[in-house]
This record gives sequence, structure tokens and C-alpha cells, in this order.
Amino acid sequence: MTVRLYVPRDAAALALGADRVAKAFSREAEARGLDITIVRNGSRGMHWLEPLVEVETAEGRIAYGPVRPSDVPGLLDAGLLDGKAHPLCLGGTEEIPFLKNQTRLTFARCGVIDPVSLEDYKTHGGLRGLEKAIAMAPADIVKEVTDSGLRGRGGAGFPTGIKWKTVLDAPGDQKYIVCNADEGDSGTFADRMIMEGDPFVLIEGMAIAGLATGATKGYVYTRSEYPHAVAVMNEAVAIARAAGMLGPSVLGSGRAFDMEIRVGAGAYVCGEETALLNSLEGKRGIVRAKPPLPALQGFLGRPTVVNNVISLASVPIVMDKGAAYYRDFGMGRSRGTIPIQIAGNVQHGGLYETAFGLTLGEIVDTIGGGTASGRPVRAVQVGGPLGAYFPRALFDTPFDYEAFAAKDGLIGHAGITVFDDTVDMLKQARFAMEFCAVESCGKCTPCRIGSTRGVETADKIARGIEPEKNRELLADLCNTMKFGSLCALGGFTPYPVMSAMTHFPEDFSPAPMVEAAE
Ligand SMILES: Cc1cc2nc3c(=O)[nH]c(=O)nc-3n(C[C@H](O)[C@H](O)[C@H](O)COP(=O)(O)O)c2cc1C
Ligand code: SF4
Repeated sequence: MTVRLYVPRDAAALALGADRVAKAFSREAEARGLDITIVRNGSRGMHWLEPLVEVETAEGRIAYGPVRPSDVPGLLDAGLLDGKAHPLCLGGTEEIPFLKNQTRLTFARCGVIDPVSLEDYKTHGGLRGLEKAIAMAPADIVKEVTDSGLRGRGGAGFPTGIKWKTVLDAPGDQKYIVCNADEGDSGTFADRMIMEGDPFVLIEGMAIAGLATGATKGYVYTRSEYPHAVAVMNEAVAIARAAGMLGPSVLGSGRAFDMEIRVGAGAYVCGEETALLNSLEGKRGIVRAKPPLPALQGFLGRPTVVNNVISLASVPIVMDKGAAYYRDFGMGRSRGTIPIQIAGNVQHGGLYETAFGLTLGEIVDTIGGGTASGRPVRAVQVGGPLGAYFPRALFDTPFDYEAFAAKDGLIGHAGITVFDDTVDMLKQARFAMEFCAVESCGKCTPCRIGSTRGVETADKIARGIEPEKNRELLADLCNTMKFGSLCALGGFTPYPVMSAMTHFPEDFSPAPMVEAAE
């Protein structure tokens, strides 16, 4: 009987040699006359163990990692195909604490199934949400999503159901669903992982959004830096269309929904929804003033839902298990689960899906295992490049939209980047301003000019030039950018800058530079 081996095709695993490992297994199996089937699955999200190879045994799936091509003969000698012991053996995959302690709702199938097998998808609970939605009136689908408490996972945390209701109620014979898969935040990869590991869940979520709002066409807008995600999504869309999951009559419902994948060149601002819509229309990716809201006048001026990948990919489970099931997880107004992406100088980097409410300290110290360098954690940036830096003193903050906002921080797309005690926070503040200057679309003055002045001011502080006056100037500049910018690129850059100044003031008082004697 053929033995099923799983070797991820996820970009993170590929970067660590997964293709070469898969080739080594097929070469070795052929030479030894072994009957194996290699499934190229998504990643389980434990990046320090990639490439993570799994074998299906009578006792369930057994994991080995990180596997290098040169390990393959030894692994086969040791009896990997029977799940036998080896120094790289990690035991039952589901028993690895990092995975076992998660609550995987959105990522339930990621790393488990063959991403481009609709059969596998169905066997693992796929399509149930869409089937339920087909039997419901659009307003009832919208109500279910609203009642679940699902909020946008792209950054702003806006309630998904309310956005959908605006589009449902908007007049117009053509409406659109646009999935924001730009994922520009450094240190984030949840969107990419789900597209590469479980593309049908996103397709299903978009189809449900279409049925709920009356939109018949959808686009996934992603970036050229995600070639593997683009390939998997294109393949999955073609399979879904051939199987009648997409097209003029979704699953025979008589209601139409179809979709395409569009690839941008990769600009941070093109993740902002209105700049994204411009880019999708073939225009330059600059921010549009709001109003009008995209929900009323979005893609080509038509009512458009713009939602993040994870928001849309969470809808099938909401529809399948019901709003009450989903909203039962979480705390306060942050309902359900959130895929936290742990990156930077950390021992156990990867994706950890859990109900809202864990403290930052639990995430960094217990789940992440502290720094990879072994030095003390000094700062953690939460929410991508526009997120605040939190010191250890704020490690009791629970992962919740409101709790982070109350401490002048944000959750954003739930990426966290860990830094040890060698980090220079003045340099990080300068970097935030520089990032904004480079990525600014240029439409408004506080962001376009302010960010460049910010870099200059940080440089003056670093050189010890009138430090007190320049610290005040930097704070004043942040205030102008925060309240005067048209979008959150200029408006949120002050978060990393001000948090660095507030929590790490010692880094903003460097010793005055001694001018070289003539
Ligand atoms: C500069 C900037 C970049 C953004 N980048 C992204 C992104 O890469 N992905 C994303 O989903 N949202 C991004 N957003 C947020 C979007 O504008 C928008 O709020 C989101 O796509 C709405 O979807 P959601 O309600 O499902 O979160 C960005 C916003 C700004 C201001
Ligand atoms: S804040 Fe920056 S990115 Fe946003 S509209 Fe203004 S110039 Fe463009």
C-alpha cells in the first residue's frame, strides 16, 4: 500500500529547501522500490521546524523536522515510513505543543490537506458554509456574519457584517467583492499561508460574500512577491470553476459568482483599500479621499466589499458552525480567533491561531520562547510597520483591539516582531519615518513632507544636535501627521515613533557628538 508523505509547498518551507527535500524522497524511494505518494501540503506554521515532513501512519501523522535533503536516506533507514524514531522525529504532529495549544478555526485545514484537492477540502468540512448560505436570504447571511462579531483582520478591525450590509443596501446592478491580499506589513504571512495552504476557504468566503451582497464578481488583489500564492490561487479558482463552485450557478443555486486573481507590483500603499482599487483599475496606486466609501462607490465606481483575506477566509466557519459558535471565542468586542504571526528575533517564529485575549507576554515568552539570540526581549512591535513598540512593562496587555488602543497601540494584521536588548530604538523610530517617506503615495503634505522632516530630525537627535528641541519637534511633527494625514500610512507612522520615544527615552538622549579638533 502506498504511504502518504507530506512535504509543504508553502513559500517559507520552499525557502528552506522543501523542493529539494521532496525530490530527495522521490529519488530515494525509486532507488529503494518504495511505494510513496508525496503530497505538497501547506505549512503548519512552525517556521523553525521547516521543512517539516509528515508521514501518515495508523497512529496518525508523525512529524520530522527540520529536514535537509541529506537527512533523507537516514530517515528512511530509521523507518520514517512507519513513523519510527529518529533524532529529527517530533512525534505526532497534532501533539507538538505549539500546534496543540492553538484554536484553529480559520486555519483548521492549512497544512493538513492537499491545497489543490477539492475532494480533500470537502472531506475536511469544506463547502458546508457555502451550502448553508445558498439556502439563506442575503440579509440573513449578512446578519449571521454581523452576529458572529467578526471584525476586519486587515488592520482597522471594522465589523465585517456592517460593511456587507452597506453593500447589500446600496443601489446598483453590478457589485464587487475585492479581497485585499496585498499583505504589505513586514513580518506578516497569514494571508500568504492560507492562499498557499487552503485556497478554497478563501474562494468559499468570497462566494458567500457575493451571495450576501448581490456581488457577482470578485477579485483577489495580491502582489508579485507572492508567486507561489498566485499559482495556487489560480489553480484553485480553475478547479472551483470546473466543479461549479464558481460560475453562473454557484453549486447549482442559480446565483452567479466568479472571480479572478490580480497581481500588483508591490507597493505598501496599494494595501490601503482606495489605492488598491485604483491599482486594480489600472491607475496609479494613490489614495482616494473618502467619502465616497468603497462600499458605495468602489471598484469602477460600483458598490464594493473590500475585505482582508483572513476576514473572508473566516466566513465559511462562521456560516458552517453559526454566529454563536464563533463569537463564543475571544474577549470584549474582539470575537473569534486571530492568527498571530510571530517574527523577528524569536525562538519559535510562525503562525499561532488563538482566541483573542492572550497577553503579549504569553505570546512572546511562552509561545515564542523568547529571543532566538538568547538575550532579553527589549521591545515588541505589534501590528506591522505602523504599529507601536511595546516594552516588557506592557506585556500584560491582552491581545484585543480595544486593550491595545488603550495603550496607544494597535493589533493591525496581528504581526508581532520581537527585538532583543541590542536594539536601538532611535534607529527604529528613524526607520519608521524613512519607511513612510519611501512608501508615501505623495497625495497629502503631512505624510509626504513630514516623513522626510522626521528622518532629518531623528538624525539630528542621533548626532546630539539640540536634542531637547529636536525631540519636541519630532513629537510635534508626529502630532501633525497623526491628525493631518489623509490615510493611515501618514496617520499611524507616529505610533512606532512616539512609542519608541515614550517607552525608551534613554535611546533618544545619545551622548553629544565630540567634534574632531582642528
Ligand atoms: C498604508 C496602508 C496599508 C494597508 N495594507 C493592507 C494590506 O496589506 N492588507 C489588508 O488587508 N489591509 C490593508 N490595509 C487596510 C485596508 O485599507 C482596509 O482597511 C482593509 O483591507 C479592509 O478589510 P477588512 O475590513 O477585512 O480588514 C492598509 C491600510 C493602509 C492605510
Ligand atoms: S497619508 Fe501618505 S500615503 Fe496616505 S494619502 Fe497621504 S501621502 Fe498618501
